[in-house]
Amino acid sequence: MSDDASRTPVAGRLEVRSSTAPDDRHDEARRTALVESLPVVDESTPLAAQLHLDAQRRIRLSGRRFARPTETRIITIANQKGGVGKTTTTVNLAAALAQSGLNVLVLDNDPQGNASTALGVEHRSGTPSIYEVLVDGSPMVDAVQQCPDVPGLLCVPATIDLSGAEIELVSLVARETRLRNALNAYLQHRADAGEARIDYVLVDCPPSLGLLTVNAFVVGREVLIPIQCEYYALEGLSQLLKTIQLIQAHLNPELHVSTILLTMFDARTNLAQQVAAEVREHFPAITLKTTVPRSVRISEAPSYGQTVMTYDPGSTGALAYLEAARELTDQLGSETSTGAESTERHAPTSVPGPYAVAPSRAPDRHSATTTEPDCQQEDQ
Ligand SMILES: Nc1ncnc2c1ncn2[C@@H]1O[C@H](COP(=O)(O)OP(=O)(O)O)[C@@H](O)[C@H]1O
Ligand SMILES: [Mg+2]
Repeated sequence: MSDDASRTPVAGRLEVRSSTAPDDRHDEARRTALVESLPVVDESTPLAAQLHLDAQRRIRLSGRRFARPTETRIITIANQKGGVGKTTTTVNLAAALAQSGLNVLVLDNDPQGNASTALGVEHRSGTPSIYEVLVDGSPMVDAVQQCPDVPGLLCVPATIDLSGAEIELVSLVARETRLRNALNAYLQHRADAGEARIDYVLVDCPPSLGLLTVNAFVVGREVLIPIQCEYYALEGLSQLLKTIQLIQAHLNPELHVSTILLTMFDARTNLAQQVAAEVREHFPAITLKTTVPRSVRISEAPSYGQTVMTYDPGSTGALAYLEAARELTDQLGSETSTGAESTERHAPTSVPGPYAVAPSRAPDRHSATTTEPDCQQEDQ
């Protein structure tokens, strides 16, 4: 799927077949025939039903080429809560997009450097990184690395040096726009050198609303908010939306929340179902249909310096991220336009209360009462 054969160099850039090309229609017919040829599975055996659903999803997604956006989409993955799946979402969506024929750049803007670890790029102290770009004003091109496992996936790593950047940035000129200026210069440099256009830039953020995150909001045009399907999922979301509104008013009028992704979803618990329903109720237009399941494979992958997309591409978690990436590319019509005219798909700037799923409305998450087979259950 990630092989170079899928990329056809045309006039110095990578062209990807459009989703309506005759070959694709043929592939689509072949996929439909394959799905229909699968044996019917009795729903009374949940494991078999899940395997059946996963097989269907695999066939539907295999070998697909995603449509290229008409201009580079720059998406900031943000949520000031820690541990909600920002980094996991950044690296896996990036890998899924690159595996589907697109050119992707990840900016690791979190001093923890977890995205750099998962993408298998060098990020020891002293490695040219986003720190030098932000603080020293070094050209981004000097810090860009190719991800070893996924062709078409680039990364600007974060080293431990970035942990001092919040303080160092305070006294610098144009402290909020440094990342944007550096990225613009890098994209221009690629164009001047005749290199392939970057289709997607994904920016990973630290779990705070400091200057690093402000830089990420100023460089981005869109915000993707991962929401963990747990207690207090929406807590803090109003604060995040207010910050985005402030950035929009003063620094980046194009910025808008384009996407919400539900992560660590466990379909067996009522709590996860209720959190998902509540998020969809508040943000119906921008919440992706795909939810990312809680998956051991997803959490194991970074310890091998990999994303789940290469560590276990057939796992339920990898399929979910591939589906989420496809949904993201399907937003094309409305999302490549500037924020103002496509308000329907945008998040409201406040979250109608209650901000959290109250325990009284959500039974103990350990009392697994949903027994129906679901392709989103944890894969081992
Ligand atoms: N879908 C998932 N299933 C299981 N574990 C996950 C999943 N998504 C993230 N994790 C794990 O949860 C932890 C926090 O995720 P991470 O992406 O680092 O969050 P953040 O960047 O928001 O702090 C990590 O250990 C990660 O491996
Ligand atoms: Mg993180």
